[in-house]
Amino acid sequence: MIEDRTHRSVKLNPRKHSTGAVDYPNTSKDRFWDEPSFQKIALVSVGEIKFMQEVPKLLGDGNYANLGHSRGRSAIILAKGIQEWCDTGLVYSVDVEWAKRSLDLMHQHDVRDVIKKCRCSTNRASKNLSKVSFNFVFIDADHCYDAVVADFSDWSPLVRVGGWVCFHDTNQDFSHKAIETVMTDNDEWVERTEYHIDRIRTFERVK
Ligand SMILES: C[S@@+](CC[C@H](N)C(=O)[O-])C[C@H]1O[C@@H](n2cnc3c(N)ncnc32)[C@H](O)[C@@H]1O
Repeated sequence: MIEDRTHRSVKLNPRKHSTGAVDYPNTSKDRFWDEPSFQKIALVSVGEIKFMQEVPKLLGDGNYANLGHSRGRSAIILAKGIQEWCDTGLVYSVDVEWAKRSLDLMHQHDVRDVIKKCRCSTNRASKNLSKVSFNFVFIDADHCYDAVVADFSDWSPLVRVGGWVCFHDTNQDFSHKAIETVMTDNDEWVERTEYHIDRIRTFERVK
């Protein structure tokens, strides 16, 4: 399956929408955001790392989904949060491609027992995991409009009431429009604006 990469064109998909707080008051002992080696490869900002690491503190034991593994930054951050704040928890991380360097990175950060690798499309994974209840889904795979809408509609039914969906790159026009489409007149989901951190927007399932 070929990823639609039209979202990479700034002309087609301008980065014009507002971003949230730059920083997040992370209280973890493991100051993961300080890791210079991790910062170098981070597609997520320091504020976003600080927030994502505390999501397991806020949502507790259970299942977390990371759509779009790439080198595994967001999955590793969630796994670190689970290791520090939860008794039990797993990150189901989904990608069509798993490069050796992403496996090495999980090994390096000692999170292999917390991350379950799902090597398939996000659509296929939602079907394979349809009986699993999730605390949290991070939508960061294909960023074109149709794909973000599809990821939300495939995965949001798997989130328990009180659980969250977070979207990444919400400053981008495609993601922004996809969020407007799925959230307008949708009384099952409420935005938690206090957790709009940089390019991450957070929505809670309320019914
Ligand atoms: C922006 S990167 C993810 C970054 C990652 N969350 C991180 O923090 O490092 C997007 C990834 O999504 C994957 N991807 C794109 N479309 C996909 C799909 N439909 N199903 C599964 N993976 C997909 C790509 O292979 C790519 O590795």
